[in-house]
Amino acid sequence: MSMETRDAVVADVPQMSGFLKELTASGKRKSPDDAAFVQAHYIEDPGKIRCSLVEEDGVVLGFQSLKRAEAGNKWGVAPGWAIIGTHIRPSAARRGVGRALFQVSRAAAEAAGIAKIDASIAADNPEALAYYEAMGFRTYRTPEGLICKCFDVAGSRTG
Ligand SMILES: CC(C)(COP(=O)(O)OP(=O)(O)OC[C@H]1O[C@@H](n2cnc3c(N)ncnc32)[C@H](O)[C@@H]1OP(=O)(O)O)[C@@H](O)C(=O)NCCC(=O)NCCS
Repeated sequence: MSMETRDAVVADVPQMSGFLKELTASGKRKSPDDAAFVQAHYIEDPGKIRCSLVEEDGVVLGFQSLKRAEAGNKWGVAPGWAIIGTHIRPSAARRGVGRALFQVSRAAAEAAGIAKIDASIAADNPEALAYYEAMGFRTYRTPEGLICKCFDVAGSRTG
């Protein structure tokens, strides 16, 4: 069995929506999880920089979305930053899927000339807080119920 990282496409939507519903059921997701939402907000979002996934033997183990923060976005992220979201199939957690996805997203952010990436995490989600911290994100603001972490793309550039 080998894990492959690639861009998410429309044909992946049923699987992506399928495990988002598992995350919703376990209380870890509050946003919509239906196929139409996944297609519009991750695969075909006009602000998309990259939406990549990890697949193993035809099973999508997780995906990561990186989008441009548009002026007036509902999260209050500065325009020009990117916004990241990570969604891992519960049965595939802690296998390095999120780590593999961030390598792709980080490179995509660099290529797109993005200086900073925002991750807005529910304050009661210790796994996600630990994940983003391990990827190099640091807390920069704490609106009610959220912990917003920032990754400094420009400052972490290796060469
Ligand atoms: C949080 C989440 C994104 C992590 O993804 P993952 O693929 O399980 O993470 P990885 O296996 O790549 O872990 C990378 C590092 O993150 C940290 N980490 C990940 N999960 C962790 C956990 N449950 N507890 C503590 N640290 C954790 C560790 O440092 C880990 O490195 P290590 O395994 O070598 O110690 C994933 O579990 C998930 O999708 N959770 C539910 C949905 C969600 O909360 N998304 C984020 C919304 S903001």
